[in-house]
Amino acid sequence: MNDKLLEIEDLAVHFHIPEGIARAVDGVGFHLAAGETIGLVGESGCGKSVTALSILGLIPSPPGKIKSGKIMFDGQNLLDLDRESLRKIRGRQISMIFQEPMTSLNPVLPIGRQVAEPLMVHQGLNRAEAFEKAADWLNHVKIPAAAKRLNDYPHQLSGGMRQRVMIAMAMVCGPKLLIADEPTTALDVTIQAQILSLMVKLKDELEMSLLLITHDLGVVAQMAARVVVMYAGQVVEEAGVTDIFDRPFHPYTRGLLKSMPRTGHSGKRVKRLKAIQGTVPPLTQMIVGCKFADRCPHSFELCRENPPTLFRIADGHRARCWLKEHPERRRDNV
Ligand SMILES: Nc1ncnc2c1ncn2[C@@H]1O[C@H](COP(=O)(O)OP(=O)(O)OP(=O)(O)O)[C@@H](O)[C@H]1O
Ligand SMILES: [Mg+2]
Repeated sequence: MNDKLLEIEDLAVHFHIPEGIARAVDGVGFHLAAGETIGLVGESGCGKSVTALSILGLIPSPPGKIKSGKIMFDGQNLLDLDRESLRKIRGRQISMIFQEPMTSLNPVLPIGRQVAEPLMVHQGLNRAEAFEKAADWLNHVKIPAAAKRLNDYPHQLSGGMRQRVMIAMAMVCGPKLLIADEPTTALDVTIQAQILSLMVKLKDELEMSLLLITHDLGVVAQMAARVVVMYAGQVVEEAGVTDIFDRPFHPYTRGLLKSMPRTGHSGKRVKRLKAIQGTVPPLTQMIVGCKFADRCPHSFELCRENPPTLFRIADGHRARCWLKEHPERRRDNV
């Protein structure tokens, strides 16, 4: 049996915008095993959400276009499926939680109906059965007095409660893969912690895989087994969570860790915060060598002349950086 539930290979997604072609995702590849949680991290605009939306077939076209690649899910290439087949997989086998619940919750429908709907559509339950199961789920995600709130509208709930409804909606059909795109960024810290532990609990109960997209390396340390770091549409480093926090290789990953006010995986508090210098290059710009070279404190001629590939650093640890081939140029104190 193939334990790679999701395997993305060489995915490229372009947006045709007035300034030119934005290469939002430029050759991304990673996999997710059954039951595994991976954290997808990187600065704003590096292509995390576009990668996630590609999995679900939700790239707006135009202006977006999937140029190449494969997204293998449970043995089939999602990019080969027609709209109808993909719609069947969405919600039933793969579901997604968005950062802002109001983008997914329908403001004019009661929450009970919204949680019950996927059960009627995907599992063929009748109305009464679906509403009963919806109430169970709202209970399960700890909505107080759930049965009485089935007729509440989203605006009658707090942000944290709305996010719980989203979790219930995403999980009712028992998907194999849950994609959570910044699921807690809009919430305050205490509620964040509650929502995250709820997600972990349900994920374990349902034996799901989780693709967790976040800016917050603290959340990654708490939840993920492996981490994929993206920069300007590419995967620049991939490793187990301990390696990422204790032995990051790519200067970008090291920069991210230094710029985050979070406790590392090892429990060490990051003391002085240091922003990564410069900004992400425009995605319309053709870059010959490494996309990070302009911001990199270690870059040398080769970095500007040739694009690095993902080099093996250790078992399960890869980094897209020429320093692997030229270790004498690496200065750890930068
Ligand atoms: N609908 C769109 N039209 C045009 N360009 C888009 C569109 N959606 C995304 N892009 C481009 O793709 C890039 C990557 O966007 P994406 O939303 O994946 O970033 P992200 O990594 O999720 O960032 P954030 O952390 O801010 O959510 C954007 O910088 C933008 O240039
Ligand atoms: Mg995003």
